[in-house]
Amino acid sequence: RKQPQEKIRTMYWLGIDIGTGGSRALLVDEKGKLIAGFTAPHEDIRMERPLWAEQRPENWWDAAQAAIRGVLQQAGVSGDQVKGVGLSGQMHGLVLLDADNQVIRPALIWCDQRSQPQVDFIHQTVGRANVVAHTANPMLTGFTLPKLLWVRDNEPQNFERARKVLLPKDYVRFMLTGVHATEVSDASGTGLLDVVTRRWSSAMIERLDLDASLLPEVKESADVTGTVTRAAAEATGLKEGTPVVGGAGDQAASGIGNGIVHTGVASCTIGTSGVVFAYLDRPHYDPQGRVHTFCHAVRGKWHVMGVTQGAGLSLQWFRNQFAPGTDYDTLMAEAQKAPPLSHGLFWLPYLMGERTPHLDPIARGGWIGLTAKHGRPEMIRAIVEGVSYSLKDCLGVIENMGVDIQSVRASGGGARSPFWRQMLADIFGRGVATLENTEGSAYGAALLAVAGTGQYGSVEELCSVAIRETECLIPNVHESAAYERGYEVFSILYPTLKPVYSLIQQMA
Ligand code: XUL
Repeated sequence: RKQPQEKIRTMYWLGIDIGTGGSRALLVDEKGKLIAGFTAPHEDIRMERPLWAEQRPENWWDAAQAAIRGVLQQAGVSGDQVKGVGLSGQMHGLVLLDADNQVIRPALIWCDQRSQPQVDFIHQTVGRANVVAHTANPMLTGFTLPKLLWVRDNEPQNFERARKVLLPKDYVRFMLTGVHATEVSDASGTGLLDVVTRRWSSAMIERLDLDASLLPEVKESADVTGTVTRAAAEATGLKEGTPVVGGAGDQAASGIGNGIVHTGVASCTIGTSGVVFAYLDRPHYDPQGRVHTFCHAVRGKWHVMGVTQGAGLSLQWFRNQFAPGTDYDTLMAEAQKAPPLSHGLFWLPYLMGERTPHLDPIARGGWIGLTAKHGRPEMIRAIVEGVSYSLKDCLGVIENMGVDIQSVRASGGGARSPFWRQMLADIFGRGVATLENTEGSAYGAALLAVAGTGQYGSVEELCSVAIRETECLIPNVHESAAYERGYEVFSILYPTLKPVYSLIQQMA
């Protein structure tokens, strides 16, 4: 006798990126093909004082719910067709929960720079070399630990109430699953993870007199951390019991989304900040700590990344000040009216200090070499060139560590410009490729969900079927030679100006 045929329903996987400007939800199929995406914006960053930057975790959860509902509706997919969820998010933020799991105060986010006294205290108490030995990185104001110590020093009543410290995406995980958990890549940016053993560093916890129970459980990125609760199912449209995998910090997630899962290939992402990201088989670090060595979202692997603080931000600043309302394509077309080297004009992209290679929060930006003959085309082109030289600084530190980089994959808003991509190829002196799918972090989170709950054995396997390069730009010999001379001059500017930055800081 014939059984009635059960209708085969297509299954999907969901990636959610809790960014700074908004939360984005993406649906992919079992082979990682992109189906639909939906973004819900966040409230503006609160900057009550210089160097402070805060956001409300409750606002991230509201946006995440709207993004999940939005993408399901847009794709016409019901919650019971979603087989797994992966999370990605802005790194380093400090979310504090009390005994009733209520948010104690707004989160201090990644670009909050108030904690220099706490960074100095950590280096003095633990010893800078020990901090690097315990965590593979020196402490930086951006990391989570000095933010936590800032709360301990300045808001003892809030610190006393704290029972859990979570990262931004892990707060959303808690709201989805009721579980306090994180994963190795995001935990690497707290300053409390032993990046080599992929566990919380008991040495750091003890030396700084912290209670280990404040920290959530740490898993690998593709491991399941919990399942969607009934309340979260009602709030999002997902099905109760749907597994949620660890996911990754936004840069490691973007590394997965860009297929940086083996040696030889790096990515260069130009968003507000700019990041050069490379895969590591073993945890190497730069002895000067100019780049971050963090756990990768690939099981048992690592990555290294260099960060230019003011990449897309430089161009955004120019536009807001001098060309409000102008779109970036128009600015790029204007830049192309100037020749390479912008008639001897240089841009220093240090609008928010700098991480790689200078690790200097008080460095300042600006043009050097202006004459009365220079116009807007040179000024814009110099910005694009200066940001690209700074990204070459990142690439250089990573290569000096002995990391082999044959080609670079460009991603992020800046890389949408063919002019900028060609400039990167010319300045880096190597091929710059683009990918069919440039979704980055949310896509990486979705791929981790497929790898953790679908049929593919590993993230690497999945990336090899899901990610395809569309073009590769080769350096122009003539331009490359010109930019080599330009880079020599650019490299002299920061050390020459460093004493001036200290003088300026004293009067600011
Ligand atoms: C990484 C970093 C940023 C933030 C915000 O170190 O600071 O990528 O995660 O996107």
